Amino acid sequence: MQLRKRWKKKKGHRRLAALSRYNPVTMAGVPFRIRQFEKADFDTLWRIDQDCFDPQLAYSRPEMAFYIRRPASFTLVAEGDGGEDPGNGNPRAGIPILGFIVAETRRNTGHIITIDVVAEARRAGVGSALLRAAEDRLLRAGAVAIALETAVNNEAAIRFYKQKGYFVEKTVSSYYSNQIDALVMTKALVPRGRQNTQ
Ligand SMILES: CC(C)(COP(=O)(O)OP(=O)(O)OC[C@H]1O[C@@H](n2cnc3c(N)ncnc32)[C@H](O)[C@@H]1OP(=O)(O)O)[C@@H](O)C(=O)NCCC(=O)NCCS
Repeated sequence: MQLRKRWKKKKGHRRLAALSRYNPVTMAGVPFRIRQFEKADFDTLWRIDQDCFDPQLAYSRPEMAFYIRRPASFTLVAEGDGGEDPGNGNPRAGIPILGFIVAETRRNTGHIITIDVVAEARRAGVGSALLRAAEDRLLRAGAVAIALETAVNNEAAIRFYKQKGYFVEKTVSSYYSNQIDALVMTKALVPRGRQNTQ
């Protein structure tokens, strides 16, 4: 998760809060699909981010809007399978958003800004599907490698990224809140020998 240093945050740690307002039942095994972000998703994504991270680490609304609207960024959303259209003019009514990913291209390198999955939907492959979809899109946009930052104490995220082939490149001290160190993790999308760095 990227944090801009000028938005200083106090010390904190992600909080695995109860997320019953998204879906009261366990989501494991529930089908989902990945789609493009739509403006109407914004409040839900912001609330998910608030629940995924300690209030002092989670993005403010302006921060979240800044990252989602960046010209080279894109946002993908994982939503549950809503079944049939309820026929009330809002085919998305009642369909839970399970998670999202914000990523961007920086020259020939992709960058994962954040990935958030609601607590009830974790360990069901949602994060994997979001990351894979973002990696595919970054590859198509010409990225040869992907970089991201994660807090050194975010064990779930570190395990998740390592399982997806990311390696720790370096540690940036006091990256978050000027207090928590970050790991910069990278993954080559194109074998290093075949990367055209121009
Ligand atoms: C990190 C995160 C996105 C993973 O999403 P997810 O949907 O649970 O991930 P998946 O189900 O696709 O997991 C894939 C694999 O990653 C690893 N993994 C994921 N979460 C893990 C955890 N808590 N502990 C250990 N390994 C984990 C496992 O190898 C897992 O495969 P398995 O379930 O078959 O063992 C999710 O935990 C999350 O949203 N956390 C809060 C927000 C956050 O910290 N985001 C990262 C910001 S840098």
